[in-house]
Amino acid sequence: MTTESSGINKAAGPRHIAIVMDGNGRWAKKRFLPRFFGHKAGVDSLVKVVQACIDREVEYLTVFAFSSENWKRPSDEVSGLMGLVLAAVSRYLAKMGQMGVRIRIVGDRDAVSPKLRNAWNEAESATAHNTKLTMSVAFNYGGRWDIVQACKAAMDAGVPSTELTEARLSEFMAMSYAPDPDLFIRTGGEVRISNFMLWQVAYTEFVFSDCLWPEFGDKQLDAAIAAFRDRDRRFGGVKEAPALADG
Ligand code: IPE
Ligand code: IPE
Ligand code: MG
Repeated sequence: MTTESSGINKAAGPRHIAIVMDGNGRWAKKRFLPRFFGHKAGVDSLVKVVQACIDREVEYLTVFAFSSENWKRPSDEVSGLMGLVLAAVSRYLAKMGQMGVRIRIVGDRDAVSPKLRNAWNEAESATAHNTKLTMSVAFNYGGRWDIVQACKAAMDAGVPSTELTEARLSEFMAMSYAPDPDLFIRTGGEVRISNFMLWQVAYTEFVFSDCLWPEFGDKQLDAAIAAFRDRDRRFGGVKEAPALADG
């Protein structure tokens, strides 16, 4: 098996994949199960995708786990999700550490329970030294929240408006430690961003999949990566025509 056919081609990227893990509720509904079971299956799917990203030498994986707007859901679903996240941290933290995953949480931590905040802090500090893959979990996160918190942080740091450039503001964004995503994947069939990484996706390639998140696996990931590699990224420039051979 060549490295190309195994899907590993680090130079071709993507270095950073961002995923909106959508469709858990519909997955459960199809099986006549409460939505909670869809979220539970979604956690299992995430663990598999983390391994698949490591196998493909992806450096950064950012997943949307709970949006700033998801508080609008029924309170039993919200509390079920919070409990599930706590359980997932205690169940998978050691495994993630062994896999070489560095965990980062992005989002507004003020609104989550102290218990969950502590779990996030523990997950981050226990994995801080890992280098295989940086997995950022966007939780109580919104792209607009991020832009506003970055502006506030820049003002608090005393950055004068005359010095506020795109690069300077980027330093205050929640994910300033990561390059912008190369590939954005949304499962579940909806074709929208839903307030995910608004600032960072300026030149990201988008792939939308009808696959429901609990059913997303290696095959769908490889299809998204193949679609990404087929794209012609120009970043606003012009693609050079291949040089003609002399004679
Ligand atoms: C995504 O799945 C997970 C979260 C938003 C937490 P959904 O719960 O949105 O699933 P659908 O879109 O209702 O199927
Ligand atoms: C986006 O999915 C948020 C997450 C996957 C965490 P939603 O299901 O909340 O998005 P909408 O409401 O369909 O736009
Ligand atoms: Mg949804």
